[in-house]
Amino acid sequence: MPMSRVIGTGSFAPTRVLTNHDLEKMLDTTDEWIRVRTGIAERRICGPEEDSATLAEGAAVQALAMAGVDPVDVDILMVATVTPAVPLPATACLLQDTLKARRAAAFDIGAGCSGFIYGLAVADGLIRNGSARTVLLVGAETLSRIVNWKDRNTCVLFGDGAGAVVLQAQEGGPGIRSTHLYSDGGEWTLLVAPGGGSRFPPSERILREGLHLIQMRSGNEVFRLAVRAMEDACMTALKANKLEASDIDLLIPHQANARIINALADRLAFPEAKVVLNIEKYGNTSAASIPLALDEAARAGRVQPGMTLLLVAFGAGLTWGSAVVTW
Ligand code: ACO
Repeated sequence: MPMSRVIGTGSFAPTRVLTNHDLEKMLDTTDEWIRVRTGIAERRICGPEEDSATLAEGAAVQALAMAGVDPVDVDILMVATVTPAVPLPATACLLQDTLKARRAAAFDIGAGCSGFIYGLAVADGLIRNGSARTVLLVGAETLSRIVNWKDRNTCVLFGDGAGAVVLQAQEGGPGIRSTHLYSDGGEWTLLVAPGGGSRFPPSERILREGLHLIQMRSGNEVFRLAVRAMEDACMTALKANKLEASDIDLLIPHQANARIINALADRLAFPEAKVVLNIEKYGNTSAASIPLALDEAARAGRVQPGMTLLLVAFGAGLTWGSAVVTW
């Protein structure tokens, strides 16, 4: 059975930077509050000409170049996103068009901030069962378009960006060793953008009441659940691979809050040097956060052949999951 190996990574973020000091002028908040509670100093915000498909393209082009793969050789093209460029069709189809990845089957993955891990599991399954040889997986988000800029509880947390990987089948050798996925739909109301779908179709009322925007019911509760669920997903991944935490060279967690990541690293006894943390610059970019962090780490030389990586995510749904990858 073939393994799936990551052969290229890429990332892309809008050039416009929104700092905590900028937010101080818009809301009743402070740079200190945001830094201390979240670890975020600034985030990127897309311009009027940008959307999730254009950010995805920027990341995908880099990943394909690193992999040395022509878009026409991509069999499956997936975009993990909660902020599609248009409601219909999939953002992956828009990306297929711009990349001219004519042979690919293109679809989106909607699994909140865990979308990239879910996409990795789907890609790995399709490669292992022989349905695909080359997969392009992108996490792309424009959360700035669906945050309520008057709600200080949420708008300070999120940012825009994209990250991509190219996966390819190979016999044996390094690659994706495991993926574990979980959901708890019983808690779907914790983090939600309720309006604009078929339950509450777009209307003047939806716009007036801001129901198309992100609402978070209890930041504290989400925080607590995130730490516990990500710890469980990491422990399950380690056990399935007969690994100890000390065997992992790099932990690449979803970047939702530096305090969530620090609490997770403490529980798993991961030293700071083994944890990839870039939330300071980007905030929470949902499904884009792990591939963005992975690409930055790879390009900075922090990821070397033979290293074992543990990826873990948690997000709206609720959804969570983990993956172990040998580089
Ligand atoms: N500036 C100043 N004060 C604020 C701000 C702000 N931006 N936001 C909230 N506050 C206030 C609150 O109103 C509250 O005031 P009160 O006590 O007078 O009511 C006070 O700060 C404390 O609020 P807490 O909720 O106790 O603060 P906490 O330490 O839990 O931090 C935070 C809040 C940052 C939201 C944290 O709970 C968190 O990160 N939770 C995880 C949420 C998350 O990441 N969601 C994203 C999606 S899911 C995912 O990706 C994991």
